[in-house]
Amino acid sequence: MFSNTQIKSFKKLQTPFYYYDLDLLSRTLNQIKEHGLSKGFHVHFAIKANFNFPILKLVKEAGLGIDCVSGKEIERAIEAGFKPNQIAFAGVGKTDEEILTGLRHNIFSFNCESLQELEILNELAFSCGKTANVSIRINPNVEANTHKYITTGLNENKFGITADKLPALFDLLPSFKALNLTGIHFHIGSQIRDLKPFADLCEKVNNLQDLFEQKGYQLEHINLGGGYGIDYETPDEEPVPDFKSFFDLFEHNLELREGQQVHFELGRSIVGQCGSLISKVLYIKEGIATNFAVIDAGMTELIRPALYQASHKVDVLTSSKPEKIYDVVGPICESSDTFQRGTLLPEIKRGDLVAIRSAGAYGEVMSSGFNLRERVKAYYSHKLENNNTGQ
Ligand code: LLP
Repeated sequence: MFSNTQIKSFKKLQTPFYYYDLDLLSRTLNQIKEHGLSKGFHVHFAIKANFNFPILKLVKEAGLGIDCVSGKEIERAIEAGFKPNQIAFAGVGKTDEEILTGLRHNIFSFNCESLQELEILNELAFSCGKTANVSIRINPNVEANTHKYITTGLNENKFGITADKLPALFDLLPSFKALNLTGIHFHIGSQIRDLKPFADLCEKVNNLQDLFEQKGYQLEHINLGGGYGIDYETPDEEPVPDFKSFFDLFEHNLELREGQQVHFELGRSIVGQCGSLISKVLYIKEGIATNFAVIDAGMTELIRPALYQASHKVDVLTSSKPEKIYDVVGPICESSDTFQRGTLLPEIKRGDLVAIRSAGAYGEVMSSGFNLRERVKAYYSHKLENNNTGQ
């Protein structure tokens, strides 16, 4: 995956750092254009996955909008040049200030997650003399077959309005004079590799559309959220997710009404594969059943293995010696600070460089200052190739 020239450039940089392959990001965006946007679908990039400006620039140039979950994300998207009418705002706990930020900018849609939130949004919009465009986030009770921490569309999850609350919603809606109901919104979870849950979602959406119509609501748009997964085990075999199958499934399974828009909010599938965390080996320690390769990146830079038992492929960039068994671990005083366990890797020595792959989504953005560790830098392929290592 990495060329000798890239590895030579990496050797000159202070580790750990994030490295983003913008050419791969462009290729990924082209597939979204070819298979999604070409069908008239609207795709919003879930900015929570990665909010770095060079990434946002390419996303914007490809014609995508943004999905936000905080007021600061709305501001970031606008700073990056996205138009307010390209911004959707979800989140189960929007503060009054965040709602006011969205109202001030006249964003495309507030994806509302509870009856009480609708009430508050109505009050705040009324007090500003505005009408807020609202999409109701419905919890469809669909099993996403993914890690339980990133499952969001089951009755037991805190997200969205469950079906039993819909009668109350229909009773309340006419009294919300400062709200304009434009659509319905769903997001069933993340890292969904199998398409079946999305087919189940389409079935629920079709039934709900009928229900909204019976109640006299013509929905302008349907927002299916994000959640499409990536290949963490063998990233070089599938650097760009199969967007054709993904978008075709929705095209074939949704029963759309004339003129109705379809929106998606994809995060991981857009930026996951283009990012790697590059780290240096500090120590090699012989264990009883394994060898520990202690690297200078830890759960402070990439928390996914510690939080979701996620496995990110580790490539050794500077050794091609015969393989040995390693646990690749970080420096933090937590046993969960482990990137790989019992993995065969080319023999490693102090000073070798490793790449922790598929770290472009929910990597850098979830880093923390635990142990007073500093935020690491990010480098981008086009700058390194031009021999310029600036941010
Ligand atoms: N829309 C909404 C309302 C969401 O909550 C999310 C992600 C997305 C879209 C984008 O989902 P994606 O296409 O990226 O799967 N930190 C976790 C993932 C949390 C996802 C939260 N919501 C991880 O590292 O796996």
